[in-house]
Amino acid sequence: MDTIIEVKGLKKYYKGTEAVKGLDLSVHKGEIFGFLGPNGAGKSTTINMLSTIIKPSEGHAKINGFDNVKEKNKVRASIGLIFQASTLDEKLTANENLKLHCKFYGVKKSLREDRIQEVLEIVDLTDKRYKIVETFSGGMKRRLEIARGLLNYPKVLFLDEPTVGLDPQTRAHLWDYILKLKEKAGITIFLTTHSMEEAEICDRVAIMDHGELIALDTPDQLKSKVGGDIIHVSTEANQAAKALIEERYEAEVTEDGEGLSFRVENGSKLLIDFVKQFDIPIKSVNLRRPTLNDVFLQLAGREIREENVSTKTSGNRNLARRGR
Ligand SMILES: Nc1ncnc2c1ncn2[C@@H]1O[C@H](COP(=O)(O)OP(=O)(O)OP(=O)(O)O)[C@@H](O)[C@H]1O
Ligand SMILES: [Mg+2]
Repeated sequence: MDTIIEVKGLKKYYKGTEAVKGLDLSVHKGEIFGFLGPNGAGKSTTINMLSTIIKPSEGHAKINGFDNVKEKNKVRASIGLIFQASTLDEKLTANENLKLHCKFYGVKKSLREDRIQEVLEIVDLTDKRYKIVETFSGGMKRRLEIARGLLNYPKVLFLDEPTVGLDPQTRAHLWDYILKLKEKAGITIFLTTHSMEEAEICDRVAIMDHGELIALDTPDQLKSKVGGDIIHVSTEANQAAKALIEERYEAEVTEDGEGLSFRVENGSKLLIDFVKQFDIPIKSVNLRRPTLNDVFLQLAGREIREENVSTKTSGNRNLARRGR
């Protein structure tokens, strides 16, 4: 398999923070590679180093064969970049935003007209070309940013949290475009996300926590490592139920505000006995296969949506209980 991004020992220190602690990975040509991790994991820092926006403290990366420190301009010519926060000029029209980008990124004058039309078609914004960006919805702005990232025919498109803040329908829509890009243009897509559902769509997912990769594989492989089934139960007395499950099934139990989850082997068989024999009245119970959230929970000892990641503590149970 061809490699388009090769990362070796990439590190970034800020004063008092080791944002990225030595990253090694390779991204295959044409894949959608997802970077999944909680707030502060180092996802944006990594994307910014790969796309030459910030300089690594140590290590390096090759993107499309070019070094991210020594051959910045060549890297930039090979990539499209969509930042976490919008960088559109909202007072300008879509067309003006795209024209400016062509200028900055050295798209020849004679090509600009065609390129702008082409990228707007990809994201279905042709009819908004001469409209002021301020009047766009969040989803339309994101699509325009993607269009802008495609103007130079990039080999790799970096998307930092492309769908954050968008409603579910717009999210799904945007994903259609991302998948279309992969299929039609053969572009390699490197994106970051907090969302398990989005990570599921990726060909491979790297899970990052506290500046380190804690897993890297296809979503299916990652989930199969967790194994077994998850029973989710809500009872009349969840605290007492938790203690009982921990004792009876020797399982690690996590709470999610609505109930309790624990992992078991052969869940469908166990579920019937569980319901029959459980001493505390059950409000609801269901059985499901592990998700990427369970993968993260098992590896990091807490859920990914947890916002407070500033203190690293060991001991899975305490972390799982924290902040609920
Ligand atoms: N310019 C900076 N100066 C100092 N510290 C920084 C700077 N940028 C990032 N950091 C720190 O580096 C760590 C990683 O930040 P980064 O933005 O890469 O995380 P992230 O995974 O993208 O998080 P989020 O999901 O919130 O976007 C954090 O602890 C952050 O506070
Ligand atoms: Mg970020």
